Amino acid sequence: MRILVIGSGAREHAIIRAFAGGPAGPAGSVGPAGSAGAAHELHAAPGNPGIAALATLHDVDPMDGAAVAALATEVQAELVVVGPEAPLVAGVADAVRAVGIACFGPTAQAAALEGSKAFAKDVMAAAGVPTAMAHVCTTVEEVAEALDAFGAPYVVKDDGLAAGKGVVVTSDREEALEHARGCLERGAGHGAVVVEEYLDGPEVSLFCLTDGVTVVPLAPAQDFKRALDGDAGPNTGGMGAYSPLPWAPADLVDEVVARVAEPTVAEMRHRGVPFAGVLYCGLALTGRGVRVIEFNARFGDPETQVVLARLASPLAEVLLAAATGRLDEQPPLRWHDDAAVTVVVAAHGYPGTVRAGDEIEGVAEAEQVPGVHVLHAGTARAQDGGLVSAGGRVLSVVGTGPDIDAARATAYAGVERIALRGSQHRTDIAATMPELEVPEAAL
Ligand code: AMP
Ligand code: GLY
Repeated sequence: MRILVIGSGAREHAIIRAFAGGPAGPAGSVGPAGSAGAAHELHAAPGNPGIAALATLHDVDPMDGAAVAALATEVQAELVVVGPEAPLVAGVADAVRAVGIACFGPTAQAAALEGSKAFAKDVMAAAGVPTAMAHVCTTVEEVAEALDAFGAPYVVKDDGLAAGKGVVVTSDREEALEHARGCLERGAGHGAVVVEEYLDGPEVSLFCLTDGVTVVPLAPAQDFKRALDGDAGPNTGGMGAYSPLPWAPADLVDEVVARVAEPTVAEMRHRGVPFAGVLYCGLALTGRGVRVIEFNARFGDPETQVVLARLASPLAEVLLAAATGRLDEQPPLRWHDDAAVTVVVAAHGYPGTVRAGDEIEGVAEAEQVPGVHVLHAGTARAQDGGLVSAGGRVLSVVGTGPDIDAARATAYAGVERIALRGSQHRTDIAATMPELEVPEAAL
C-alpha cells in the first residue's frame, strides 16, 4: 500500500515504524505491526530525520489541506494518516477525502470532540458518559463562582487546543483565576474556559479505533504528564508512558468501550457528525468509578510509542479498515506479550521556551541495547549532517521486555547512552504502579 503520514513527532515515527515492520525487538519477540512481510511505500509530510530512514519526506505544510490533498494525489496514496490534532481540527482529513483518497482521521466537525472541551462535555452529557462535572465560563466572575462551587483542588481548562498545556490543576485559587483570566484575554480557545470538578485517581489512556460505527480498542497505556519526577512541575505533552497496565482491572477495556467509546460514537453518528479515526479516551479511575478526563481525536504522544511497540497485527490494514467503514470485517487484534516503556528526552527549558540547535549524540549507541528503539520528535539535521535538537520533546526512547520492570530498565539503558546538552527526562517513568482504590463494582 502507498501510505502518506502527516506530522513530524515521535507518534508519527512510531506509526511509520509500525507500517515499515522492522526491526524486531528483543530476541525478535516484539516486532512492530506489519512485520508479516507487508511491504508498503511510505511517505511523510513533513516528517523528521528519524522518519527519513523509513519514508520519503515531503516539505508540505501539514496544516494546508489543499497542499496535503495535492501531495496525496501526486504520490498516489491509498491511505493518508493524519497524526496531530491541529490539522484535523483545520479540516485536513476532509480535504484528503474530497479528492477521493481514504484518510484515517476525523472530519473537522467531529474533531471538535478534542478541539472544544465544551462540545465534548455536551456530547458526553447527551450520551450518558461518566465525566467530571463542569461549568463552561466566559467571564472571570463566572469562573470565580464555579471555583467556589467545586472547591479545591481547582481544575481550569482552556476551551480550545493548547498542546496539552491549557490545563491548570492547583489548590491555589489565585493561580486558577489567573490561568482563566489569561485564557479569556487571549481568546485562545473560543473565549471560554471550562472549570471542572477534580478527579482523583490513576489516569489511563485508551485508544479506540472506530469507523464511525464499530469500535476496536487498542491496549491501555499510562502517560506521565508532569514535567518532573514525582509528578511535580507543570503539565507537558507527556514525558513517558508504559503498556500494559498490570494493576488495572481485567474488565477495564470492555467497560470503557461499553460505557464511553460506543455511546460517544453513537451520539456523534446520531448528531450527523460521525466520528471515524481514533477516539483517545483519557480516563481517571476514581473511587466512584471511571470518569472521562478528556477526549482526543488522534493517537496520544507518547502512549502510541508503547502501544504500537506491542501490536502484532498489521497496523496499515486496520487503519485502512477504519478509514473505509470496514472495521467490523477485521480479525481480532493480536498483541505481543512483552511490555513497553518509553522515556521522553526533552530539550532544555521544556515545557517553557526551549533551546534548539544542541547536538544530539548516542542515538545509534542507544539502539544497540537489545530491545531499544529511538523515535525522533524535535530533531533536525544541521548543515554538516549532524543531528540537533529542534523542539521541546526531542526523542522518545522505547524499551521492550518481558515485564514492565525489564522494559523500564531497557528504556533507561537506552536513555543513558544519549547525550544532549541541557536535556531533561524523568527518572521515574513506570517506576511505581498506582494503587487502585476503585471498588470493582463501581467500574
Ligand atoms: P487534559 O488536557 O484535559 O488532558 O488535561 C491535562 C491533565 O490535567 C490531565 O491528564 C490530568 O492530569 C489533569 N486533569 C485534567 N482534568 C482534570 C480533572 N478534572 N481532575 C484532575 N486532574 C485533571
Ligand atoms: N499524551 C497526551 C496526549 O497525547 O495528549
